[in-house]
Amino acid sequence: MAVKKKLYIRTYGCQMNEYDSLKMAKVLESSHDQTDDVANADLVLINTCSVRDKPEQKLYSLLGELHELRKINPQLKIGVGGCVAQQEGETILKRSKDVDFVFGTHNLSLIPGLLEQRERSGMRQAAVNYREDWEELPFGLPEDGGVVAFLAISRGCNKNCSYCIVPTTRGPEVSRSTEEIEREVRIAVHRGVREIVLLGQTVNSYGLDLTPRSSFVKLLDRISAIDKLERIRFTSPHPQEVREDFIDLVCSNPKICRHIHMPLQSGSDRILKLMNRNYRRAKYLSIIEALKSRVPDMAITTDIIVGFPGETEDDFKATLEVMEAVQFDMSYSFVYSPRPGTAATEMEDPISYEVKLEQLQRLQARQFEITQQRLKAWIGREAEILVEGPSTLDPGILQGRTSQNILVNLNRSHSGIARGMIVPVVITESARYTLKADVIGTVINVGSDRAGSPMVGTPSLG
Ligand code: 5AD
Ligand code: SF4
Repeated sequence: MAVKKKLYIRTYGCQMNEYDSLKMAKVLESSHDQTDDVANADLVLINTCSVRDKPEQKLYSLLGELHELRKINPQLKIGVGGCVAQQEGETILKRSKDVDFVFGTHNLSLIPGLLEQRERSGMRQAAVNYREDWEELPFGLPEDGGVVAFLAISRGCNKNCSYCIVPTTRGPEVSRSTEEIEREVRIAVHRGVREIVLLGQTVNSYGLDLTPRSSFVKLLDRISAIDKLERIRFTSPHPQEVREDFIDLVCSNPKICRHIHMPLQSGSDRILKLMNRNYRRAKYLSIIEALKSRVPDMAITTDIIVGFPGETEDDFKATLEVMEAVQFDMSYSFVYSPRPGTAATEMEDPISYEVKLEQLQRLQARQFEITQQRLKAWIGREAEILVEGPSTLDPGILQGRTSQNILVNLNRSHSGIARGMIVPVVITESARYTLKADVIGTVINVGSDRAGSPMVGTPSLG
């Protein structure tokens, strides 16, 4: 058998990019093994992100480093994919002589062919065409045999938020067939996965483009019937698409995690309108109220943009007010970053970057306090964690997540507990972003196929 070459992938950006990188490794699996050491690589793939900041700068500075590596290994091949590649296409080939091929967000299956053509013909390659159909790719789970797997249920976005580049880089929304999704979840569960994270730009508009039409609620209903799948998460629902049936299901289905990540972006109606976010602050708050009145320990996390063009201090304060009203467990906040070709770049933007940065810092400082209070409130309470593996702090101790997605480190090692088990704990301490806990009561092994002997309902603690 021919010796496999070595593949190094550098991933920037969101979970969708992480997911795509897994697919890249999978389509090259027959010819390449992955390496963590770029100096060992025969092929480097760069999976780029263009949502914020200076993505081109990041790409070209990495290419600068790779240029040096190429002096040592002239056979090294370099491919650039992801959102920057989709936008820039052949321009990347013009700007950097080191890039062998460029591939768009809809063209991952073409990577082996592009590499082969590059090697055979000597010509540098680019493939950045959009596809109308769903590009089915071989299913890949992380090599480490983790108990959590990510799964894309749709790609692209039909919203048109005035600041956002995603509809350009990922195209219009296309839902994947329910049968394919279900098939992959079953395979994942068979291999020991116990938690599935469904990915989509607006997960809750899933299925509206399918024939026959489907819905996110129907999909959740179907997946949650799969035996041994313990938990379902998803990211991200769009407030505009949240309806009663969604709230009912999320609050009543025990497999759906008690955690909703729902982007707010702004708490000012005036700014939401300029952002082309077609909901208002009252609608957002009413969704939270509906969720929390039925499930008080539902965790709510969000995304916020500060310093949108024309945003005043009053608009910013409106965002802080929503933050106080909701008491987000966590928020991911960013200074507005103009994206080429988006509507917001045409709007007047008189506020200086320094002012925006100062607002961002204020918002993040307040969020940190709220996060601390929310974590402290767990002390003394019981929770269930899905054990994911050894703690990153101390490999002798296990860690897992609560349904609310909070990382919990166990206080001591337990020989009877393995990854894939759901373990009841009592929270003893809180740290900056994590909790510590003691194991209590009965350990439920839902039957990980890798985790050794099943111990359903037997108290077998170390
Ligand atoms: N500037 C700043 N933040 C942005 N986001 C998306 N586009 C921009 C932009 N142009 C943020 C939004 C989104 C998250 C993924 O990134 O908050 O929810
Ligand atoms: Fe971008 Fe808006 Fe679509 Fe989210 S919903 S991906 S912010 S256009």
